[in-house]
Amino acid sequence: MISFNTEQRFIVTGASSGIGEGVALLLNELGASVIAIARNEERLRAMQAKAKHPENIHIEVKDLVEDIAGLPSYVKSLKDKYGKFQGLACCAGVGSLMSLQSISLEQAKQMFDINYFSTLFLVKGFADRRVNNGKGSSIVAIASIAASIAEKGQLAYAGSKAAIVASMKAISRELAPQGVCVNTVSPSMIKTPMLGDGDSDYYKEMLIKYPFGFGEVQDAAQMIVFLLSDKSCWISGQNYILDCGTY
Ligand SMILES: NC(=O)c1ccc[n+]([C@@H]2O[C@H](COP(=O)([O-])OP(=O)(O)OC[C@H]3O[C@@H](n4cnc5c(N)ncnc54)[C@H](OP(=O)(O)O)[C@@H]3O)[C@@H](O)[C@H]2O)c1
Repeated sequence: MISFNTEQRFIVTGASSGIGEGVALLLNELGASVIAIARNEERLRAMQAKAKHPENIHIEVKDLVEDIAGLPSYVKSLKDKYGKFQGLACCAGVGSLMSLQSISLEQAKQMFDINYFSTLFLVKGFADRRVNNGKGSSIVAIASIAASIAEKGQLAYAGSKAAIVASMKAISRELAPQGVCVNTVSPSMIKTPMLGDGDSDYYKEMLIKYPFGFGEVQDAAQMIVFLLSDKSCWISGQNYILDCGTY
């Protein structure tokens, strides 16, 4: 059984909604301390109110794209405030459909800023030996099934997610001597606010392909928390696709 103690601190981005919220709440339920990051303080507080041990959820309101180059220093400042970290779960991200004809450079860059560059520079901050607990520490980035099987309109989203899968593999090799595990989880359709009401023709067509239906937040959160725990200490450099066998 997975369990943590309050001295095991995890940074979770995107903790105000969807998968990040699920990861923050599950880590907290299992005994860990969570540094919960997102822009919307009200939604972060609402997440904290649902927690089993709300006193072990520490809220940090932050826009992760306002100073991407400064993120390593930001992570270091969190370490100075809370202590060393056991893990990092990068769940913040955005997704929207764009066509090749309509996409602008600015839109493409915005997608990469949050889905790729902010993750990369948070990981850079976490990798500092003064910041993490060394052997057994763990990083999980959330990519997407789109990194391998992209649907029409996902050109920028899929590119940003494929980039993070590729970079995490390289980073896993770089951090292996420190004993830090580095993995990626690539979900397909998980029922979160990112899917909207899930009632569009697009989603109805997609649903037919899913033998178990769309996933619940818990389906992704359980896998991410396993990879953050000591139960997965021999696993690194992997990208786990969660799609109930659809693709
Ligand atoms: N749901 C799915 O079907 C699915 C499938 C594959 C992959 N994913 C990936 O899973 C991750 C989580 O998605 P989700 O479905 O849980 O989406 P969600 O419910 O929309 O949550 C997205 C989270 O990202 C945060 N965020 C966005 N921009 C941010 C910024 N600039 N700075 C800080 N935080 C920011 C949001 O918080 P604030 O708005 O409060 O800042 C929110 O907490 C994403 O990377 C997504 O691409 C989701």
